[in-house]
Amino acid sequence: MVSKGPLLRLLTAINRRRMKLLMGLAFVAYVACEYGLFFSFLANRSLQENGDQKVESRIEEVSLVIYFVIYFVLRTPFHSFHIEGMYLITGGAGFVGSHLTDKLMMDGHEVTVVDNFFTGRKRNVEHWIGHENFELINHDVVEPLYIEVDQIYHLASPASPPNYMYNPIKTLKTNTIGTLNMLGLAKRVGARLLLASTSEVYGDPEVHPQNEDYWGHVNPIGPRACYDEGKRVAETMCYAYMKQEGVEVRVARIFNTFGPRMHMNDGRVVSNFILQALQGEPLTVYGPGTQTRAFQYVSDLVNGLVALMNSNVSSPVNLGNPEEHTILEFAQLIKKLVGSGSEIQFLSEAQDDPQKRKPDIRKAKLLLGWEPVVPLEEGLNKAIHYFRKELEYQANNQYIPKPKPARMKKGRTRHN
Ligand SMILES: NC(=O)c1ccc[n+]([C@@H]2O[C@H](COP(=O)([O-])OP(=O)(O)OC[C@H]3O[C@@H](n4cnc5c(N)ncnc54)[C@H](O)[C@@H]3O)[C@@H](O)[C@H]2O)c1
Repeated sequence: MVSKGPLLRLLTAINRRRMKLLMGLAFVAYVACEYGLFFSFLANRSLQENGDQKVESRIEEVSLVIYFVIYFVLRTPFHSFHIEGMYLITGGAGFVGSHLTDKLMMDGHEVTVVDNFFTGRKRNVEHWIGHENFELINHDVVEPLYIEVDQIYHLASPASPPNYMYNPIKTLKTNTIGTLNMLGLAKRVGARLLLASTSEVYGDPEVHPQNEDYWGHVNPIGPRACYDEGKRVAETMCYAYMKQEGVEVRVARIFNTFGPRMHMNDGRVVSNFILQALQGEPLTVYGPGTQTRAFQYVSDLVNGLVALMNSNVSSPVNLGNPEEHTILEFAQLIKKLVGSGSEIQFLSEAQDDPQKRKPDIRKAKLLLGWEPVVPLEEGLNKAIHYFRKELEYQANNQYIPKPKPARMKKGRTRHN
């Protein structure tokens, strides 16, 4: 193996942020020298007393100081110079991730989206493709990633039950190995990492509403365990990296969220009911419909994620809308907003389906100054508009394969 020379080592040690800092320092030194301010401040007395010789020795001292400043910059861990600006969003082509991408791009940041498009799609972020601040990488977080960033929003994971149950092993790998990889990256580059955790860490809760001190009631071997336990261990990993390696972590426990760019096959109440109502199908309620849910609109969540990332709160924080409704109320409201004549159909209860879910958001209110502001009906109307357009899009873009003409072998007729 060829060993690197000292100059090459020095050059490869300089990353973009350090380079910016160094260039800044060099610029300050240049301006100061050019106009004699820096120099005269240090050398003024010597000039008067001892003439040119003293001046030269002062110049040497100043050069030495500049040298040590540069040396100090190169040796200091990255996070000591936390210049904000370069963001990584894993799962950024998904529902929440794409809205977060919009927010950070609109705020003028450099955003890199990493996604394997398992449940996400390019269409969610295509409006940014070609923008100089935007990069889209097709990458699976289960594999290590080497890039330079200041903040990592780690959202990569399927979120809806049909998606995470489709391949439980992959869900576990994404939430465990994927999170380890992102924490490793955060450690290497001195970035802050925000984990998109979930209210599912509370399982089928025995306390109501759920605050962050509640340890949860999760079935470790049930059908939802790959997701619930995956997120629980992802949280554990964050705090292990924080304690052992000094990585700055933020943990958002996200409650049910809805809005445009949700999956058509999301499988959760809001999308199910809207699609059923739009297509004139019965709205299917599992169980008696008395189980409760609380939904937040996606823009509220995105504002909460950004506020949490930029706060100094390292313990978990609930982000959700505490306005609770029964499933039956949701069905009736959506039917009314769509103007649908669909009936409501009751089916048998789903396994491990939580009976109650309502966040206690006092911590977010107090420490982040955050709370949801979008009224339920306003959010639902936007989601209904989106799903209506999606149905039209699907109807107009269906790929109907044309049957190939039958091949005839020479001299033989084809029998059907
Ligand atoms: N939407 C909600 O109501 C909700 C609630 C609680 C928690 N969350 C969390 O928020 C995050 C985003 O959820 P969402 O609703 O946007 O889901 P989503 O399925 O729309 O987005 C997840 C994204 O992660 C990508 N992804 C999955 N596995 C990956 C892998 N191995 N490597 C790279 N990318 C991968 C998917 O392709 C997708 O783009 C998830 O971590 C989820 O657990 C969401």
